[in-house]
Amino acid sequence: MRIGVLTGGGDCPGLNAAIRAVVKQGLGEYGHQIIGFRNGWKGVVDGDVLQLDRSNIRNILPQGGTMLGTARFHPHSAGAMDQVMATLEAERIEALICIGGDGTLNAASKVAEQGIKIVAIPKTIDNDVYGTDLSIGYHTAVNIATEAIDRIHTTAESHNRVMVVEVMGRHAGWIATASGIAGGAEVVLTPEEPFDIEKIVKFLKHRHRAHANFSIVVVAEGAAPAKGSAMDYEVQLGQYGEIIAGAIGERVAKEIQDRTGFDTRLTVLGHVQRGGTPTPTDRILGSRFGVAAVDAITAGQSNVMTAVRNEEIVLVPLEEIAGKVKPVPEDLLRVARVLA
Ligand code: F6P
Repeated sequence: MRIGVLTGGGDCPGLNAAIRAVVKQGLGEYGHQIIGFRNGWKGVVDGDVLQLDRSNIRNILPQGGTMLGTARFHPHSAGAMDQVMATLEAERIEALICIGGDGTLNAASKVAEQGIKIVAIPKTIDNDVYGTDLSIGYHTAVNIATEAIDRIHTTAESHNRVMVVEVMGRHAGWIATASGIAGGAEVVLTPEEPFDIEKIVKFLKHRHRAHANFSIVVVAEGAAPAKGSAMDYEVQLGQYGEIIAGAIGERVAKEIQDRTGFDTRLTVLGHVQRGGTPTPTDRILGSRFGVAAVDAITAGQSNVMTAVRNEEIVLVPLEEIAGKVKPVPEDLLRVARVLA
């Protein structure tokens, strides 16, 4: 078979592990040909292809980013579905493995509607892809954010400051909750739980009066104040629904500084969370998904996503996940709250 593979949307550590597994399993186990498309769906539209074999995937396992390149480009929104179909026909692609988050998987569903066999692999540091316990990149991002919070802790303590740390997470607060728990944050703000700045200020004042001179506040970039609460704020989205980084962190830091008088500083972790070498967990997850995707295609599966549930790799129909977000469950949010 001739199988295409692409990585779309924001990059993350662990993508190369998945690409490598697709190539090794495809070539080695089944004798398929694997065609890489550069820069996500844009490469399909432009016919920008790269025949993949063992030589291109040498040494990519520990590398962050994606050797195929990526782009935030959705062919259906760009009116480019005809070019997609033309390239797939010209390249004689029989099935396509799409490694991506919500935007890429949404585009994959549209292409599947045109009769193309698709197997998707979930990736996003945000970990909000519905239908899978984990997405590639999340584990590494939590590691990076936790290490940053640990480092911020010592300087917060030395200076008696409130440190606001903004982490990624547009629609769900997975990174904020996990790194907040692991890093011992006093306050964790997520999109799942709209916050009341007055309650946060009251809590910080009480804490600083009672027993501490510093606090760590972790804010997911998609966190927002509760409607009708004391702080007005509209989440600002870019062209592809990406959040304008730093906006909510800056606002929360300013409100805390103004309302408490505590010396307050902001750190926006930004794309540091998406860069660099993947953790072993992300390498293993990417590898498992890559192998499973090729197995699925070879077995005649289509319009499914590889997923991990209770440690096992399963296939989930794309139609079950389309347009849905996986929020942080209440029990995990509660742990972050009670350990404040
Ligand atoms: O891919 C997910 C993500 O990292 C989000 O957490 C973040 O809001 C967004 O991408 C940033 O997008 P960009 O890299 O286009 O600035």
